[in-house]
Amino acid sequence: MSDQSRRPRPSGKPYRRPKKDPVRILAFEALRAVDERDAYANLVLPPLLRKAREKGDFDGRDAALATELVYGTLRRQGTYDAVISACIDRPLREVDPPVLDVLSLGAHQLLGTRIPTHAAVSASVELARVVLGDGRAKFVNAVLRKIAQDDLEGWVAKVAPPYEDDPEEHLAVVHSHPRWVVSALWDSLGGGRAGIEALLAADNERPEVTLVARPGRATTEELLREEAAVAGRWSPYAVRLAEGGEPGAIEAVRDGRAGVQDEGSQLVAIALANAPLDGPDEKWLDGCAGPGGKAALLGALAAERGAMLLASEKQPHRAGLVAKALAGNPGPYQVIAADGTQPPWRAGSFDRVLVDVPCTGLGALRRRPEARWRRRPEDLEGFGPLQRGLLRTALDSVRVGGVVGYATCSPHLAETRAVVQDVLKQVPDAELIDARPLLPGVPELGEGPDVQLWPHVHGTDAMYLALIRKTAP
Ligand SMILES: C[S@@+](CC[C@H](N)C(=O)[O-])C[C@H]1O[C@@H](n2cnc3c(N)ncnc32)[C@H](O)[C@@H]1O
Repeated sequence: MSDQSRRPRPSGKPYRRPKKDPVRILAFEALRAVDERDAYANLVLPPLLRKAREKGDFDGRDAALATELVYGTLRRQGTYDAVISACIDRPLREVDPPVLDVLSLGAHQLLGTRIPTHAAVSASVELARVVLGDGRAKFVNAVLRKIAQDDLEGWVAKVAPPYEDDPEEHLAVVHSHPRWVVSALWDSLGGGRAGIEALLAADNERPEVTLVARPGRATTEELLREEAAVAGRWSPYAVRLAEGGEPGAIEAVRDGRAGVQDEGSQLVAIALANAPLDGPDEKWLDGCAGPGGKAALLGALAAERGAMLLASEKQPHRAGLVAKALAGNPGPYQVIAADGTQPPWRAGSFDRVLVDVPCTGLGALRRRPEARWRRRPEDLEGFGPLQRGLLRTALDSVRVGGVVGYATCSPHLAETRAVVQDVLKQVPDAELIDARPLLPGVPELGEGPDVQLWPHVHGTDAMYLALIRKTAP
């Protein structure tokens, strides 16, 4: 085998093998998978981290750094792209994607972490030597040295248009969201600059881990005995874990009596369960149940009243996850795989129905760092007919006097109010009921009768809920 270190180099410098830094190599691999295979960071990262731990490459601190590098780079990609663009003399799209990933990782270390400048540059150049080769490492070195000449605030002042000239583009660059997403979120939120800035900033924060103590199966008191656990803000079943809290280490979570669930999702199930009904309250339906978070809470709430839950989900493998989430439910329940737009059940058979429809997920950007870059405005056209179809069938499925909850984890008006208004035009014997009094103590729920939660106001995902009562067959 040839030994390159003995060969004279054109520069006269002796060859030095690049230093292999397992944390940065792993972060790069995760970014490549997200880029190349359209993988989800939250699915790609855990197995990579597990493998690195098993090989003895990593300790807990390394895992935390790798996670921060991947999530931070993906969240801030829009801002970093603008900065990198300003430091190179060709369009960004002409830079090879793996080179761009190394540059973005470097930009994040320089502008978004406390890693000292020289360490951020040299670690990125070493990474480039390992994964790209020496030639491209020189390019990386040159670009990162330019980026290192200013901090994030300084760069943003240079690369974002002034707010006064173009408010949406300014916010898009400063807070790293696609412009169309800024525009859609602002349309839904309303108000001036302060609110939308707070929302966009909240989307870039790591969300807390929140647990649900499924009623009749676990109590919040039990969960609060865990280290670093504090009570939820709004849901009587919620407990929040401080940073580093490991839900998998909690017995009640391991045996399914409790689960990981955002408080916004808990509030949706609670509001539907609290909606006033005329007549019996015996049969509940969750028509889009996978993977089963809301179904598990609804099942437990139904059991407290002696009601049964039918949890239905189109995708068989996701129906399997629902069955797992509901296993051990204290009351009667059934899980089926069925298309909610062509249901096998009889019309008018349920007292309460939830349809938590497939959507763009623009309300859960804190959890899925790559989602904002993957979504396209055209996606709304794909979801629209399905969302309307599922709501129409839900209204067919509920009896007169019963209540349907229409929920999305997107605040986009095309997926929320527009769907509800369109369907109510076609189904005149149904009326919106005010969901706000059903969530006592939760502030700023909007003008009603529907409710919209927000990360920057409630600390939850931006869940939307409309409650609709059927008034005639
Ligand atoms: C937003 S998710 C529901 C989340 C769930 N409620 C929870 O809290 O865990 C929407 C679900 O609807 C399912 N779905 C999509 N099309 C459907 C259809 N036509 N009928 C029933 N379910 C459908 C998707 O597979 C997905 O699991």
